[in-house]
Amino acid sequence: MSNVWDARAAAYVDSDAHRGGADLEQLVAWAEGARSALDVATGGGHVARRLRDEGIDVVTLDPSPGMNPDVISRAEDLPFADASFDVVACRTAAHHFADPAGAVREMGRVARDRVLLVDTEFMGEEAEQAEALRDPSHVRNYSEAEWRAFAEAAGLRVADVEHFEHAFDLAAWLARTGCEGDEAERAVALLGERVHDGRLTLRKIAVRAVKP
Ligand SMILES: C[S@@+](CC[C@H](N)C(=O)[O-])C[C@H]1O[C@@H](n2cnc3c(N)ncnc32)[C@H](O)[C@@H]1O
Repeated sequence: MSNVWDARAAAYVDSDAHRGGADLEQLVAWAEGARSALDVATGGGHVARRLRDEGIDVVTLDPSPGMNPDVISRAEDLPFADASFDVVACRTAAHHFADPAGAVREMGRVARDRVLLVDTEFMGEEAEQAEALRDPSHVRNYSEAEWRAFAEAAGLRVADVEHFEHAFDLAAWLARTGCEGDEAERAVALLGERVHDGRLTLRKIAVRAVKP
């Protein structure tokens, strides 16, 4: 998988869909008061950039060397001692993880205070098929109930949940993973009314989970 992501690195740094959005600003607001943070699955580094803007010391982590993280590692196996960071954040990445429950458990272990999670929300099986067609590294989007279960199994308390509609350019979304031709047409058909005027709107979920 690292090779796939290394090849995509520049596209994720430049991506309008990832550079900003209400979900990113929510995550930054929830990080208020933190002095240190770990950005898990940093990708193009947008979470780290915004948290550093707020004066927080950020360590970035990603398994793909091409993303230039500070630490190369999977979320499921974090190479840090317990309670190493005030905040642990992970945005728009868990849908690629082999073991999301294990990743949340690891994030809870290395967080001193809170874990901030953002991802595309489960929108039904047709949307799942579209995501998998567009990107074979897609594993699954999760519902609010599943996110709550991951957090609770990790010994965290869910303190806040927010939902967002996130709209962005459809052609750029397909191009980022090299999805074209018949596969692109099938993916767009499966997305139905979520595609309008060349824009795709996906639902996102943000979770603030705290250490008890
Ligand atoms: C869409 S990008 C992340 C976007 C970024 N967090 C942002 O807010 O713009 C997904 C990232 O997940 C990383 N990734 C894939 N599997 C992973 C795993 N098991 N643990 C941690 N990161 C993983 C990929 O290398 C890639 O950089």
